[in-house]
Amino acid sequence: MKFGVITLVGLMAAAGLFGTLGSRAADPAKEEARDAILMRAKLAAAQQTLEGIMYGDFELIERGARQLHDIDEWRSAKRDAVYDHYSAEFRRLSEKLIRLANDKNAEGAFYTYQHLTSTCVTCHEYVRDVTPTTKRAELNRIPLGGGDGLILPLSAGR
Ligand code: HEC
Repeated sequence: MKFGVITLVGLMAAAGLFGTLGSRAADPAKEEARDAILMRAKLAAAQQTLEGIMYGDFELIERGARQLHDIDEWRSAKRDAVYDHYSAEFRRLSEKLIRLANDKNAEGAFYTYQHLTSTCVTCHEYVRDVTPTTKRAELNRIPLGGGDGLILPLSAGR
């Protein structure tokens, strides 16, 4: 467990090196590397939370959930409305988990943990599978009727 905490602190310190936390880094490559480090920290915090659930250690659950919440707030870029929805849901569930840990509600904490981790998966699915298609549609779009008029995405590239 000590190792997990040290790793998490190390990862978060490393993420800080890639730019001021909470602000948008200028260089997209740096931004991506920083986000990857933050995501590794998320994985470590999720593991810590699970460990708390397994041992009935509510303090550990609360610490893990708080880290999950705060790490999510540090992401560098707002992506789009759907991404923001997953992110908001993720933070809402981590706040709920903190409350349930405070109430020493083991069953509720486990249920919310499961729900929280399914948000990890649905957001990843969205980022991997949906965003590239959206980007491709944007590349192929043509203006109709000129000027600032209606724009339709074309799927000819698929
Ligand atoms: C709101 C969206 C969102 C949520 C929720 C989310 N992630 Fe991610 N995750 C991303 C994106 C975007 C990437 C890929 C880009 C990157 O690495 O920053 C990613 C990448 C990752 C990676 C790979 C990092 C690497 O090495 O490149 C891990 C591990 C990860 N996430 C873990 C988690 C875990 C664990 C959770 C839940 C506890 C979670 N994520 C929740 C958006 C999300």
